[in-house]
Amino acid sequence: MTRIAHLSDLHFGFHREDLVEPLLERVNGSGADLVVVTGDLTHRGRPGQFRQAAEFLARLTAPHMAVPGNHDVPLYNIPVRFLRPYADYDEAISPDRAPTGAAGWARVHGINSVDPFAWQRGVVHEDDIGRVLGSLDALAVNIVALHHPLQQLPQVDKELARRAPEALARFEAGGVRIALTGHLHLWAVGSLLGLGHPHLLQVQAGTALCARLDDRQNEFAVLEIEGDDLRIERHVAPMDEAGFRAPELLDFTRGEGGWIELETDRGITP
Ligand SMILES: [Fe+2]
Ligand SMILES: [Fe+2]
Repeated sequence: MTRIAHLSDLHFGFHREDLVEPLLERVNGSGADLVVVTGDLTHRGRPGQFRQAAEFLARLTAPHMAVPGNHDVPLYNIPVRFLRPYADYDEAISPDRAPTGAAGWARVHGINSVDPFAWQRGVVHEDDIGRVLGSLDALAVNIVALHHPLQQLPQVDKELARRAPEALARFEAGGVRIALTGHLHLWAVGSLLGLGHPHLLQVQAGTALCARLDDRQNEFAVLEIEGDDLRIERHVAPMDEAGFRAPELLDFTRGEGGWIELETDRGITP
């Protein structure tokens, strides 16, 4: 059994300060073997915000890995965005913006999907698709982790990252079974299975800590992987509540036809 905590969109600098301790407590108490952070660690990519993010990461008791999000490169400082967009990220978080992680039988392949020239939209680079496909572990559950979604529900009005559909199709065909993504501040998992890629389950995380009221809630997930079975614990903290509720449970299993969602006693629904 392998447990991976998935956090996204912390947005330090525009975050819920009151939720930092409850989040750390819940993640550190989750029994996670690995914590994966899929970008937007900061709100504006400022050095002080990166320091706050780094302090948060340093307090995680499990090993962690992170990839950048579009908010981790400066938006308004155009010379810096184009000439040295990752200088502060590299210094505070890690110079490895596409790390790999291992936990039990799971292998997590990080991808940097930020495009400093298309700040909001992002891109999956051809090189990264090839790198990931070339390093899959045939005996493991292979997971990709990137900030921008590879697919999204039709009602989402943001443009998909450049080359995301191609990356999704090639990852699915190549044997990647799970994608951890963020960016939209909107949770989606099982509903994505109807979009035509049943062999790759995308866990589209909400925001773990952003203070934007329109997001309505903060949340993170813990994936428990056991062979072909996956249980997802969805830990939710509504904006007007001081901490995280008991997790909602979602169960999936993988067969020849791909992933299916199982009926579950879902615990407390937010
Ligand atoms: Fe974000
Ligand atoms: Fe983002």
